[in-house]
Amino acid sequence: MTKSKPGRSGFSGYILYKLSLTVLIVLSVAVTANGSDSPSSYVRRPQPPKKLNKPVVLLISCDGFRFGYQFKTETPNIDLLISRGTEAKTGLIPVFPTMTFPNHYSIATGLYPASHGIIMNKFTDPVSGELFNRNLNPKWWLGEPLWVTAVNQGLMAATYFWPGADVHKGSWNCPKGFCKAPYNVSVPLEERVDTILNYFDLPEREIPDFMALYFDEPDIQGHEYGPDDPRVTEAVSKVDKMIGRIIMGLEKRKVFSDVHVILLGDHGMVTNCDKKVIYIDDLADWIKIPADWIQDYSPVLAMNPRWGKDVKNPGQKNAELVRKMNEALSSGKVANGEFLQVYLKENLPQRLHYSDSSRIPPIIGMVGEGLMVKQNRTYVQECSGTHGYDNMFFSMRSIFVGYGPRFRRGIKVPSFENVQVYNAVAEILGLRPAPNNGSSLFTRSLLLPFGETSQVE
Ligand SMILES: *[C@@H]1O[C@H](CO)[C@@H](O)[C@H](O)[C@H]1NC(C)=O
Ligand SMILES: *[C@@H]1O[C@H](CO)[C@@H](O)[C@H](O)[C@H]1NC(C)=O
Ligand SMILES: *[C@@H]1O[C@H](CO)[C@@H](O)[C@H](O)[C@H]1NC(C)=O
Ligand SMILES: [Zn+2]
Repeated sequence: MTKSKPGRSGFSGYILYKLSLTVLIVLSVAVTANGSDSPSSYVRRPQPPKKLNKPVVLLISCDGFRFGYQFKTETPNIDLLISRGTEAKTGLIPVFPTMTFPNHYSIATGLYPASHGIIMNKFTDPVSGELFNRNLNPKWWLGEPLWVTAVNQGLMAATYFWPGADVHKGSWNCPKGFCKAPYNVSVPLEERVDTILNYFDLPEREIPDFMALYFDEPDIQGHEYGPDDPRVTEAVSKVDKMIGRIIMGLEKRKVFSDVHVILLGDHGMVTNCDKKVIYIDDLADWIKIPADWIQDYSPVLAMNPRWGKDVKNPGQKNAELVRKMNEALSSGKVANGEFLQVYLKENLPQRLHYSDSSRIPPIIGMVGEGLMVKQNRTYVQECSGTHGYDNMFFSMRSIFVGYGPRFRRGIKVPSFENVQVYNAVAEILGLRPAPNNGSSLFTRSLLLPFGETSQVE
C-alpha cells in the first residue's frame, strides 16, 4: 500500500476551506431563518464515544440488484441500513449503456462512459481497431477512480473484485492483500466479506479509509433465469445475509456507528422472454446491412459501417443509412420495428451523454425495453434476463442506501444518477475530487455538513 502523503498539506487546507464553508452556511441559514426557526438546532448534540477517529467508507456493489428486488422477500439487514440511513426513493439511476463495466467505472470515477472510456463491456475502438475486452492496460481506463484519488492524497484503499480496480494508475498499484483480483466467481461471498472485516482488526492507521466490495449476485441468477425467477429471490436473500454479516462483524468490532456503508448496484434486469425480436435482415428491402458492420445487436445496437476506401464521405453515407433504417423500422412492415430507433451518435438524446468519445461507434440503435435485435431468424431462441437498455427504464434502476455518521437517518431522497457517488465519497473522506460529472451541490443534499453528524447507534 502506498504510504507517501503527497497531498497532506493540501488536504488540511481543504479541511479549513470546508470548515469555513460550513460556518458560512450555518451563518446564512441562521440569518435567513429570521428568528422564527431557532438556530439551536445547529448546536451539536453530544457525540457518542467513537472507536474510529477517521472517516471510513465501505462501498458495496450488488451486481444487477434491480430496484424493487428488496420487496421480493424479507431483507431485514438492508432494511436496517435503510431505516438508519438515506435511501434513493425510487432507486439509483445507472448511466447508459446500463452494463456492468461502464457503470462500475462511472460509480468509481463520477464520469459518464464517454469521458471515462469504458463505453461498453467489450468494444472495438473504431479508430485504432483494437479490441477492449476488460483489458488491464491503463490507456483504456480514463479518469480517476476513488481508490486512486484516495492513495494519491495519502489515504489508503482496498478493493475486492471491483471492476477496473486491478488497473495500475497514479499511486495505485493494486497492492497484494488490499486489492483482490482478478475476479473469481468461485470465491464465496462470505470470504469476500470476512476479508473486508479483517481490515478492521488492523491498528487504526492501517485500516483502509476507502474499501470497495463487489458481489456478483443477484446478477448471475437474473441473467440465467430472468428477474422473476425464485432463484433470484434466493440470491436477494443471500445478499441480505451478507449485509447482515457485515453489520454483525462491524458491531462485534464496535465500529458499526463510525463506518459509512454505501450499498448500491450497477443496473437492473429485465426479461427478454417475450420473444419480441427485430431482425436486421427484415430491413433488406430498404437497405442491406452486412453482419460485420454490427459490433453489438442488443440491448444496444452498435454499428460501425465499413464503406471502403473509395467512399469519399462516410459521414454522409452513415446519415443515409440511419435514415433508411428508420424509414424501414417505421414503415409498419418490419416486425417490432417500432421498438428500435437508430441514431448517428451525435444525434442521440443529450440525456444519454453518449456521443463525445471516438470509442463510441458512429451509429447507435436504442432498443425497446426487453427486446432483442438479431441479424436473421437462424438462431436458437433464448429466454433469460438482460440489461444494457436506455437508463430511462425503471427496470434498469438499482438501489442506493447510504448509512453512517454523515448520512441523515431515515431519509429518502429523489433518485439520482450514479455519477454523483464519487463526490459524495470524496466529501466524506475529505478528498479533493478529480474533475467529474457529479455536482458538488448534490453532495450537500445527500450529506450532513462537515463536522455535524447524525447520531447512529
Ligand atoms: C477461484 O476460487 C476458488 C475458491 O476459492 C479456488 O479454488 C480457485 O483456485 C480460484 N481460481 C483461480 C484461478 O484463482
Ligand atoms: C444469420 O446471421 C448470422 C450472423 O448473426 C450468420 O452467421 C448466418 O450466416 C446468417 N444466416 C443466414 C441464413 O443468412
Ligand atoms: C464530464 O466531466 C468531464 C471532466 O470534467 C468533462 O470533460 C465532460 O465534458 C463532462 N461531461 C458532461 C456531459 O458534462
Ligand atoms: Zn452488472
